[in-house]
Amino acid sequence: MSFKQRDIISILHFNKEEILYILDVTKRMEQTDYSQILKGKVLSVLFFEPSTRTRLSFEAAMKRLGGMVIGFAESGATSIAKGESFSDSLKTIEGYCDVVVLRHYLEGAAQFAADIVNVPVINAGDGSNQHPTQTFLDLYTILKTKGILEGLKIGFLGDLKYGRTVHSLAYALAYFGAEMYFISPPNLRMPNDCMEELKKRRVTCHEAESLQGIGKQLDVIYCTRIQEERFADPIEFEKVRGIYRLSKPMIEGLGVKDDLKIMHPLPRVDEMDESLDGTNYAVYFDQVRNGVPVRKAILATVLGAIE
Ligand code: CP
Repeated sequence: MSFKQRDIISILHFNKEEILYILDVTKRMEQTDYSQILKGKVLSVLFFEPSTRTRLSFEAAMKRLGGMVIGFAESGATSIAKGESFSDSLKTIEGYCDVVVLRHYLEGAAQFAADIVNVPVINAGDGSNQHPTQTFLDLYTILKTKGILEGLKIGFLGDLKYGRTVHSLAYALAYFGAEMYFISPPNLRMPNDCMEELKKRRVTCHEAESLQGIGKQLDVIYCTRIQEERFADPIEFEKVRGIYRLSKPMIEGLGVKDDLKIMHPLPRVDEMDESLDGTNYAVYFDQVRNGVPVRKAILATVLGAIE
């Protein structure tokens, strides 16, 4: 299987075998020293939205494979601030690098970039649409902590409307026979197009507004932040601010399974209390750590260093 020169835009572009292949390469990245395989290669990180984990783990991954990194975390420091177009910027930057990692506030920006440049483009999050590399690390975390990917009951909690990590992960888990519970306030439900896609993939889906009566059935709770920055109307945000607050006593009060895992793409705000951090449920910092080997695998395969 070859990922050489391939864009990573949407998880829907990958079949089950391809997803498992990336997870397998990730495991190899953890077991073997590949510290020079990207020597001489240059990654451009172009971030039009804030990021801690995605940008820094891509940078760490590239450097740990012997490659180099250029780019920006703030487009205000580029000639875009002088009026240069996004497409002219991309045509310029592709001349400096072998692969681009792009985060943008507009849905479709990664596909737009991939259509313009001749180096692989990796979507690091495009608006509320998708975040496919987060999905690979989420799957890898599930596999490592649950031991399986098949047939799990997953509860997605929080901002399911704007939560791009949820959209991508739900699509991927559809390949693995997951039963999905979407728990959100009414104005932050999963978008219709996502639900239609999951229906097409014959996923058993349930929708609810709270974990009551559901929590005890779940193998994984995937909690997300309410994304204040994406609300057009601040009053709508105030209606849901702080609506979910997971804590150790709250979770235990639900009668959850002993081997329940609680995931979160992070950053968190107030939806997940630090009382959960030391528990066996909490795997969100494992997700953070898995970001580096997963992104090493993605960079090494799209750059053709591993076939
Ligand atoms: N999970 C994630 O995308 O985090 P950052 O926004 O910090 O990159």
